[in-house]
Amino acid sequence: MGLWSKKSVEYLQSEASLEGEHTLKRSLGALNLTLLGIGAIIGAGIFVLTGTAAAQYAGPAIVLSFVLAGLGCLFAGLCYAEFASMIPIAGSAYTYGYATLGEFIAWIIGWDLILEYLFAAATVAVGWSGYFAEFMGQIGIHIPRQFTSAPFGVEGTHNLIPSVLCVNPANNELITGACDLTKYQQIHGVLNIPAMALVAILTLLLVVGIQESARFNNIVVFVKIAIVILVITFGFAYVNSANWHPFIPANTGEFGHYGWSGIVRASGVIFFAYIGFDAVSTAAQEAKNPQRDLPIGILGSLAICTVLYILMALVMTGLAPYQELNVPHPVFVAIEHAGPPLRWLTYLINVGAIAGLASVVLVMLLGQPRIFYSMARDGLLPPMFSKVHPKYRTPYLATIITGSVAMVVAGLFPIGLLGELVSIGTLLAFVIVSAGILVLRYRSPDLHRPFRTPFVPVVPILAILICGYMMSYLPIDTWYRLLIWLAIGFLIYFGYGRTHSRAGRGDMTPARAR
Ligand code: ALA
Repeated sequence: MGLWSKKSVEYLQSEASLEGEHTLKRSLGALNLTLLGIGAIIGAGIFVLTGTAAAQYAGPAIVLSFVLAGLGCLFAGLCYAEFASMIPIAGSAYTYGYATLGEFIAWIIGWDLILEYLFAAATVAVGWSGYFAEFMGQIGIHIPRQFTSAPFGVEGTHNLIPSVLCVNPANNELITGACDLTKYQQIHGVLNIPAMALVAILTLLLVVGIQESARFNNIVVFVKIAIVILVITFGFAYVNSANWHPFIPANTGEFGHYGWSGIVRASGVIFFAYIGFDAVSTAAQEAKNPQRDLPIGILGSLAICTVLYILMALVMTGLAPYQELNVPHPVFVAIEHAGPPLRWLTYLINVGAIAGLASVVLVMLLGQPRIFYSMARDGLLPPMFSKVHPKYRTPYLATIITGSVAMVVAGLFPIGLLGELVSIGTLLAFVIVSAGILVLRYRSPDLHRPFRTPFVPVVPILAILICGYMMSYLPIDTWYRLLIWLAIGFLIYFGYGRTHSRAGRGDMTPARAR
C-alpha cells in the first residue's frame, strides 16, 4: 500500500451500494440528472464568452470552434459515462483515478477538480453579479459600483493590482480600463457583494436538500432553455446572411487571429461553455438507478447543449457583424440588431442570463462537496468533510466550507483570472479520465460495464488529443498557476492525506460516512 495503491472496482461498487441514515439520499432520475447537467452547462460561456471569441479570434467560424470543443467533450463524455455507470460514487473523476491510476494520481485529480467546481462557482457568480447589477439598474435600483466589483484587477496576464473602475455618475454606467475623466468618475472596487450573496443563498439551499436543490434547478433550467430556444427561433428570422461572409475570415498574419488557428484558439476559450456535463457524475450516490441514468444524464445534457450552442452561434453571428460582439452581453447585442420587432426579447435575455448563471453556480456548489465527501471517506481529507446531516442527508459541513471559500474568492477576484484556471483544471481532469478508460480496459477487460465507451481505444485517444490540444493553447501564466496549485496539493497530501489514508493503513472495508 502506498502512493500507487488502488481501490478495486468491486470494492468501490460495494461502497456505492451502502444504504442508511448516514448515506446520501437517492432521489434523482434520468430527467433530473439531465437537467442537472444542462443546469451546469449553459451559463457564462454562451452568454458572455461567445461574443469575445467570435470578435477576436474566429468570426462566424466560431460555429466550427463549438463543433471542435464539442467533439473533445463528446469523446471525454463517453469515457465519463463508462466510469460513471461502472463506479457510481460521488467522487467522479477522483474515484475513477483511484480505481485505475492509484491514490497519488487520484489525489491530484481531486485537488485539481477544486479548480473546476469551486472556482467555476466563483467565476460564474462574478459573471452573474454583472448581469444582476445591470438588471437592477434597468428597473431603477442602482447598486453602488464599488460594491459590485472585486478589489483586485489583473494587469497584463498575471499581476494582481487594486481594481480601478470608471463610473458615469449620470446613469451608473460602468467601464473598465481607461476613461475620459471629465465624464467618468474613477472608483476602486471594494467587494463583489451580489456575487457573495448568491453563493451564500445557494449554499443554504444545498444544505437543506438535494431534492429541493434539484427542484429549484429544474425550474431555472426550464427558463433558460426556453429563452435560448426563443433567441434561436426568432433570431433566425432576422438573420442577414451577408454577416456570414466570409465564414472563416482570413488570418491577419498573427497566430490565433482568424483563419484555422483562430478557430482552435476560440475553441479553447468557449470550452468553458461546455464545462459541467461531468458534474452529473458527482450526484451518482443520489441517483435512483445510477448505472442506467448517469450515462443518460451526462451524454443527454451534452448533446442537447451542443446542438443549442451551434445554433445559437449561427444566429448571433448572422444577426450582428462579428466585430460588434466583443461585449459582456453579446446575446443581447445580437438580438438588438433585429430592431423593434424583437425588443421584447432583449428583456427576457437578461432574465435568462440571471437564471442561467445562477443554476451553473448551484450545480458547481453541489458537485464540490460531494467530491470532498468521497475524499474524506478515503481518509485523504479530515472526517468532517464526509459528515452527512442526519435530517437533510446532505454533506452539510463540506457544503458550508465550499460555499464559504467560494464566497471569498467571488468577492475578491475578477472573472478573467478565474475563468482560464477553471478551463485548464477541467481539461486536465478530462485527459486523466480518458487515460483511465484505456488503463482499465487493458487491466480488467472482463469487468461488468453497464455502459461501454464505443470504439476503444480510438475514442479515449481522441479525447486526450483534442483536450490536450486545447490545453496547449491556454496562456503560459495559466499553466504556472496550475503548477502552483498542484504543488500546494502535494504539500497537503504528504502532510495529511498520506498518513491518514484508509487504503494506506490497509483498511479496505467499505467506508461509512459518520
Ligand atoms: N459551462 C458553464 C458556463 O458556461 C461553466 O457558465
